[in-house]
Amino acid sequence: MTEYRVAIIGTGAEDGGGEDGFAMGYRHAAAYDSHPDCEIVACADLVPEYGERFAESYDLPADATWTDHVEMLRAHEPDIVSVTTPIPTHAPIVADCLATAPPAAIHCEKPMSNRWGEVVEMVDTCAAADVQLTINHQLRLSGPVRRAVELINEGRIGDVRRVEGARRDLYEAGIHQLDLCTYFAGDEPAAWVMGSIDFREGERRSGMVIEDQAVGLWMYENGVYGMMATGDGQDAVGSLNRVIGTEGELAIDFWGEEPLRLRQDGSGWESIECTYGTPQEAAVAHLIEALEAGSEPVIVGANAKRGAEIAFGIYESVRRRARIDLPLDIEDDPLAAMVEADQLGN
Ligand SMILES: NC(=O)c1ccc[n+]([C@@H]2O[C@H](COP(=O)([O-])OP(=O)(O)OC[C@H]3O[C@@H](n4cnc5c(N)ncnc54)[C@H](O)[C@@H]3O)[C@@H](O)[C@H]2O)c1
Repeated sequence: MTEYRVAIIGTGAEDGGGEDGFAMGYRHAAAYDSHPDCEIVACADLVPEYGERFAESYDLPADATWTDHVEMLRAHEPDIVSVTTPIPTHAPIVADCLATAPPAAIHCEKPMSNRWGEVVEMVDTCAAADVQLTINHQLRLSGPVRRAVELINEGRIGDVRRVEGARRDLYEAGIHQLDLCTYFAGDEPAAWVMGSIDFREGERRSGMVIEDQAVGLWMYENGVYGMMATGDGQDAVGSLNRVIGTEGELAIDFWGEEPLRLRQDGSGWESIECTYGTPQEAAVAHLIEALEAGSEPVIVGANAKRGAEIAFGIYESVRRRARIDLPLDIEDDPLAAMVEADQLGN
């Protein structure tokens, strides 16, 4: 067993989150702290008090707390780096890690980037540098999803034909649902995607523009269809994720009273016993297991990229008023570009 020296970039205000954010840095830290092979050795946050507060929580010495993440990387050369900063900073920070002191693994928060070109770059450059890039799609390691995968593998719903997702938005929060759709469809790339969005109010979250409502339809290369509804239309799906097979279906509502339900042909819904678990801890344990084994973690960047391509593909479909055949040939965030050009709204 190797002892992994871990650094957190973007601690957040305080444990449990502040006014402006969830402080995911603390959640990552708690997961490393509970792992027997990890030691948190340094942190960086632009706000000095945030870093100092984090250092106090994790008993770090004064010289392990930084405001400049590049200086921190240079001084400590960590084995694992967690990137828990706002979305537009993910790709530049990952690039800084590779350029300064490439760690064995980078565990970056979702969604990967606010620009499609950077999503591709993150995956390609980490692969070229032999750095394991994982994205914190921790719901893949949650109890309901693990159980759902077991039921699918046991053939309880027959062959998967359609996957569905619902959330308040398509990308900032909804990327979890898009990622799970892709997971249930066998981590295949999508072949084409089309969609529509409404942007009557709009908002900014974690450095990105967010639409009010969206619908999307896509087909994976293996022929499985995907559908997503967000905002005011999300109830159309009836649960956060749904997997429809030739002989039944699954409905997943992570935090609801019935986190996982199964309906087989000719019968009503059956509640499947499972608990939410501790997916954040499970994600960290999983990425370390993969490092040790040299295997591919299910939350690897290349898998996360597929869900991101569907979200950017839906935005691009709105921009071009057309079905988008993949792979995407854009660099930017089409939604932000359309908002900037005042092309959306009633
Ligand atoms: N996986 C999940 O379920 C989940 C849940 C919530 C948020 N998130 C994601 O986590 C990420 C962070 O969100 P949050 O709500 O924790 O944010 P937050 O605002 O609570 O924390 C981010 C911290 O990063 C710091 N920061 C910004 N730029 C920096 C830089 N260049 N160097 C060092 N520190 C820097 C900020 O000062 C801030 O303290 C986002 O991508 C968000 O979408 C994921």
